[in-house]
Amino acid sequence: MRILVLMLFMSTFPSSRADLCAHCDCDFLSHTVVCNRPSLLVRTVSMLPNIQQLHLNSLNLPQPPHFLFHPNLRVLRMSRCGMHEVPGSTFLPLPGLEVIDLSNNHLETLPPTVLRSLKFLRVLILTNNRISNLDQLAWILSPGVVLEQLDLSGNPIAIATSMTVFPPVRQLFLSDTRMESVNETVIMFKKLPGKCEKDVCRHIPIHNLNISLITTIDFSSNRELEIDSGALDIFSNATFVDLSNTRLPIGFEEWLERKSRVKSLNISHCQMPLHEDTWTACGQFLHSLDISGIGAKRLRFSRFCPIRTVFARDNLLSTVYIDAVSIESMHFERNMFSDFPIPPPGVELTELHTLSLSHNLMTSLPPHALQSYPNLQHFDISHNQLSEIDPQAFPSIGLGLISLDLSSNQLSSLPHPILPSLLLLDLSSNTISHLDPHFFTGLPMLQQLRIASNPTLFSRCPNRESPCWSDHLDELTSLVDLDISNSGLEFSLHLRHLRTLKSLMLRGNEIRVIDAKSLPENLRTLDLGENRVQFTSNFSKLEHLRDLRVDQNPLRCDCSLYDIVPHLLNQSQVSDPLLYYCFSGSWQYPLLPYLASVKPCIDTTRNFYSILITTFIIAFAIVAALIGGFLVYRKYAERANFVYKRISLVESPVRL
Ligand SMILES: *[C@@H]1O[C@H](CO)[C@@H](O)[C@H](O)[C@H]1NC(C)=O
Ligand SMILES: *[C@@H]1O[C@H](CO)[C@@H](O)[C@H](O)[C@H]1NC(C)=O
Ligand SMILES: *[C@@H]1O[C@H](CO)[C@@H](O)[C@H](O)[C@H]1NC(C)=O
Ligand SMILES: *[C@@H]1O[C@H](CO)[C@@H](O)[C@H](O)[C@H]1NC(C)=O
Ligand SMILES: *[C@@H]1O[C@H](CO)[C@@H](O)[C@H](O)[C@H]1NC(C)=O
Ligand SMILES: *[C@@H]1O[C@H](CO)[C@@H](O)[C@H](O)[C@H]1NC(C)=O
Repeated sequence: MRILVLMLFMSTFPSSRADLCAHCDCDFLSHTVVCNRPSLLVRTVSMLPNIQQLHLNSLNLPQPPHFLFHPNLRVLRMSRCGMHEVPGSTFLPLPGLEVIDLSNNHLETLPPTVLRSLKFLRVLILTNNRISNLDQLAWILSPGVVLEQLDLSGNPIAIATSMTVFPPVRQLFLSDTRMESVNETVIMFKKLPGKCEKDVCRHIPIHNLNISLITTIDFSSNRELEIDSGALDIFSNATFVDLSNTRLPIGFEEWLERKSRVKSLNISHCQMPLHEDTWTACGQFLHSLDISGIGAKRLRFSRFCPIRTVFARDNLLSTVYIDAVSIESMHFERNMFSDFPIPPPGVELTELHTLSLSHNLMTSLPPHALQSYPNLQHFDISHNQLSEIDPQAFPSIGLGLISLDLSSNQLSSLPHPILPSLLLLDLSSNTISHLDPHFFTGLPMLQQLRIASNPTLFSRCPNRESPCWSDHLDELTSLVDLDISNSGLEFSLHLRHLRTLKSLMLRGNEIRVIDAKSLPENLRTLDLGENRVQFTSNFSKLEHLRDLRVDQNPLRCDCSLYDIVPHLLNQSQVSDPLLYYCFSGSWQYPLLPYLASVKPCIDTTRNFYSILITTFIIAFAIVAALIGGFLVYRKYAERANFVYKRISLVESPVRL
């Protein structure tokens, strides 16, 4: 794989625009050029004057290219380029740079002068490099520049001294940087064998950071990082704090309630002492809180907590007391709820639009369960043990649910709630054997219906003639996606009238015959894999079909396959003889070679008549020939005899 040597040359001549855009994506609306083909070797970059963003991602660039003077470039990204160094003069021709992204390279340091010329620099992203010495980053900015964002996450930082003065920055990201401890006076990094291991070589005095500027602090994923309570006080004014996967001190909750001005706090998977396994803390300005994986059994938010979003996944929660009426979104996946959580009496969480309770232990949805959440839009209660949903669980009017996920439960029947704005309903992986005839009437807007992996779904309507819940599918006039895979379906459904349907999944059923005439004409995706289909018919009528799967079916090697050839040849799996095959007699053949030679079927009735006529003509010809032959024979036979006799008479005397 030889690398294409290319000199990008993009000047004011419109003709050379094509050169660059032939190798990269050019978006002249956002004034952005994106190059990400690994085979491209960029040596010199010159751009049309109006280009403002250049992304050179995933290229092979051990060194940055040579840039020609271009004061309008604001954003330069060179991520995943295998870059080992950045020469000091690299950005001199680009004085207008505001954002530099050098993430995911092999940089060990930056030369002290490389950023000095950039008066407008706001964002410097150095994530996932090999920078170990923070001293070398002191004083690298142009005087007076205050960075909006400095991201050093994923660097193996080992050296920092009292000489380390952090570039002034508002959002500081130090995730996964080998931090060992933070207290009110120093940030300490872990010892790295081979580097100076003394304490003075691996710590920054806190006062070398311009704390009053800091709004965002990310110390996450420093697994052994001990955060001292004195350090919390230092960062009280930060609004975004991510301390996930660290160790928090006693007094953290008190800090949050009394001192912190944080709006968004992530302390997921932190080690922290929890009083009586209960989380109750809330900050005065707290909007978003992630307390996943901290081992909490109970959760309590009082009326005065301004919280809007809470993530409390992977805990041991079985009860919650939520009186915080501003809450909009609650994520309680993978907890121990066995009863449906409802707010305290008299409280309605009118702002709540998202509630996720998947992977819990609930067995039923009680009457009026959703009454306290009148504006709920997204409700996920999948992966529980629900065997029953009370007919009055959903309020009879007014619920504006948009998505409802009941998958992976043990439901065998469902009430028929009226959900006029529901777009997505997932009933997969239950044991549903019957759906009320009125079930679909209450779901006029439904676009996606997933009802796969219900093995008993058709047990009450084993064949096409018996009345079936599926007869009512045509009431779903907005349906776009339908998934009825793995549900024991033996016949092909009449779905012709679902004009909006684009995707139909019927994998893993027992369908033997499929006539495309019963399928919706606008279908784009059809999955018939793992069925018992032998013949397909009328597929040429599905003009919009783009993705057809019929793998693992006992197809006949037969002219009826001719119709599906154009749909199948687009299928990358079709060349796999373990997935796509056909039978002739009892022999199994790979499908692809057969498709290459298959001919259209000739209409069998016309065929019959033509054979009949041909046979008749041939028979007539034979009879006529026989009669004619007989007559000719009769006519000449005597003469021939005569001739013969005469000759013999003539001859005899000769012999005598
Ligand atoms: C902060 O930590 C450093 C190093 O662990 C230690 O020397 C110093 O005494 C600590 N300061 C306070 C106030 O605890
Ligand atoms: C912190 O930033 C402010 C405002 O930019 C500046 O006046 C002050 O000198 C800085 N302090 C340090 C220690 O850098
Ligand atoms: C936080 O901000 C307040 C005023 O906005 C200021 O008085 C206080 O000193 C700041 N605290 C810290 C730790 O910077
Ligand atoms: C909190 O941090 C964890 C781990 O770093 C991350 O996976 C999660 O998405 C974060 N939570 C939020 C709400 O951003
Ligand atoms: C294909 O459609 C025609 C009507 O156009 C129908 O008569 C025929 O039965 C269908 N083919 C098969 C094999 O079902
Ligand atoms: C096959 O793929 C090509 C290109 O993606 C597309 O233009 C064509 O319409 C597809 N044909 C079918 C039958 O899906």
